[in-house]
Amino acid sequence: MNHFLSRNSVDELKPLLEKARQIKQNPFEHATLGKNKTMVLLFFNPSLRTRLSTQKAALNLGMNVIPLNVSQAWGVEFEDGTIMNFDKAEHIKEAAAVISQYADIIGIRTFSGLKSKEQDYGEIVLSQFVKYATVPIINLESATVHPLQSMTDLFTIEEYKRKTRPKVVLTWTPHPRALPQAVSNSFVEWIKKTDYELVITHPKGYELSPQFSKDCTVEYEQGKALEEADFVYAKNWSSFSEYGKIISKEENWMITAQKMALTNDAYFMHCLPIRRNVVVEDAVLDGPNSIVIQQAKNREIIAQTVLSELLKNKSKF
Ligand code: CP
Repeated sequence: MNHFLSRNSVDELKPLLEKARQIKQNPFEHATLGKNKTMVLLFFNPSLRTRLSTQKAALNLGMNVIPLNVSQAWGVEFEDGTIMNFDKAEHIKEAAAVISQYADIIGIRTFSGLKSKEQDYGEIVLSQFVKYATVPIINLESATVHPLQSMTDLFTIEEYKRKTRPKVVLTWTPHPRALPQAVSNSFVEWIKKTDYELVITHPKGYELSPQFSKDCTVEYEQGKALEEADFVYAKNWSSFSEYGKIISKEENWMITAQKMALTNDAYFMHCLPIRRNVVVEDAVLDGPNSIVIQQAKNREIIAQTVLSELLKNKSKF
């Protein structure tokens, strides 16, 4: 693995999940693997879990970490060949090359703007960093995917599953703000490569990009989708076809205890942060089958797994 950008960065997932299991048992076994190595974490957008879990994972490996809120640095121009006489003071070509002088690994969080499908799905920020940096890049959630979250979700399902082929339901839920599709795209991208039964449910008009949902089962009746589910993964996303828009509020799509009763005693999952009594009612989130905190704990384990791989492979980069 040279970079960790999406599911495509991982050839063999099973050994990585096994490695994650070992790290969870003994997180300080390789406490000097990252000695004298530095990770720079660039945040174009807010974060609680990704920032802290990735930092903690790096510290467990003996790395130094420098987080930077990019809004406090110079504005970066990402297009090649532009005349830079507007507000952007620095080109990605220099910025990425300079950061690479200080960093052995660079983590980048850069959300979709939800204005231009072409720009977002072109992943310009991430791809320009990959092009111009000279060290490995970790995607901390980009415009279209959130691989650290999805690998964590998969690892968590592996920990909690009660049968070899669980039914996993990704359900759209209401939200007052237009949110990116990244977490949902990514969840589908990772889960569809397993042998789990995956069902996606959402109101009409919220179809995910075919780039991710191709060949997936989509059920427009939420109640039907939830029947016999072993895991319910709740997430809001804005429309892909009417790009970035909330096309209907569908407040009755909130996950309730009544709906969870349709399932096979399913575990409730969400990447967090979550809006209580909008996305899910308190009774579910505070109930015994909610594993959202365990999921968040596993973010550290998966970040450490990915960092270990990148540090080991760095000599080949
Ligand atoms: N799930 C997740 O990525 O959380 P943060 O946005 O707080 O990092």
